[in-house]
Amino acid sequence: MAPPAVLERARLLVEPAMEAAVDRLCVELRLPSRYHFGWTEADVPPSNAGSGKGLRPALAILSAEAVGAPGSTAVPGAVATELVHNFSLVHDDIIDGDTMRRHRPTVWSTFGVEDAVISGDALHNLAYQVLLDEPTPERVSAATRLAAATAAMIAGQAADMAFDDMADIDLEACLAMEADKTGALLGYAASVGAVLVGAPGDQVDALEAYGRELGLAFQAVDDILGIWGDPAVTGKAVGNDLRERKKSMPVAFVLSGHDEASDRLRAIYAMDGDLTDADVARATVVIEAAGGRDRTVAEARLHLDAALDSVADVDLGDTAVAELAGLARFVAERKF
Ligand code: IPE
Ligand code: IPE
Ligand code: MG
Ligand code: MG
Repeated sequence: MAPPAVLERARLLVEPAMEAAVDRLCVELRLPSRYHFGWTEADVPPSNAGSGKGLRPALAILSAEAVGAPGSTAVPGAVATELVHNFSLVHDDIIDGDTMRRHRPTVWSTFGVEDAVISGDALHNLAYQVLLDEPTPERVSAATRLAAATAAMIAGQAADMAFDDMADIDLEACLAMEADKTGALLGYAASVGAVLVGAPGDQVDALEAYGRELGLAFQAVDDILGIWGDPAVTGKAVGNDLRERKKSMPVAFVLSGHDEASDRLRAIYAMDGDLTDADVARATVVIEAAGGRDRTVAEARLHLDAALDSVADVDLGDTAVAELAGLARFVAERKF
């Protein structure tokens, strides 16, 4: 499936403002940050290299268009969302010990953990500066909502980390964690344009519900790619979620059971010390044979449908709703 046109349209609108925001940082913070976004001369982007897929900016732009405003109204919200998302990625790669993202070495593995921590902090703060440069009531509301979405994202990350040390996580707990760590910010992205326009609450709520559901479909696919993805396509390592004993959705499906397959997976996860490549390969086979992959695909489909339903019966612009639907289908079928 070709990437929906709105991704490139949003990138053209938002990326100059992103660059201008990051260029406000002092040089010590600017260098690792620009590196993270792929804004270095050496970087020639293939597919999703460069600064990422740009899903959240596209959602923000569409959310303004859906309530009848020009997409450009959403730019400060799109920039703020993308800054928070990227702060979370820079820190997430330290937490997860991941050395590759967007087809290049991660910030911490290139500049060191200390520079990655402070650069992530800088991106986080910059998000609020961008929104509150002009503290209109709409922008203050967007900043207040961003604080709530970010708090949920951080709580989700904390739960994800805590799950590493727990033997049994069922699907419900996994979904709650993923709704926080990914759904909250996608819900924000998909509504911030409408918030900046001052749109009525029912429109904002419908768009946010769409984004939250899309977030769960999105994270389900991310979890599948973390186990069965192709690093040449995703730009990220494969197998590390299992090596880290993550309780991602395919794992949670299997651990929710009490049968031979779930016992085998529990036994691998309970082994002392680091899991080897062979352990990860065995776990991968067990999860797939137990239906963890197929059930995660089905779960992604449920949340995709719920996302589409959220915007179906609300008074929103037809063209934007069609683009939101196309974007959601693309997310659910992506390979990167
Ligand atoms: C990755 O997000 C982190 C998750 C929430 C799963 P994206 O896959 O949207 O990352 P980029 O911005 O495209 O690199
Ligand atoms: C990403 O979590 C969600 C964040 C809030 C950063 P993951 O650890 O699942 O995402 P990837 O696979 O590293 O991008
Ligand atoms: Mg990660
Ligand atoms: Mg993580």
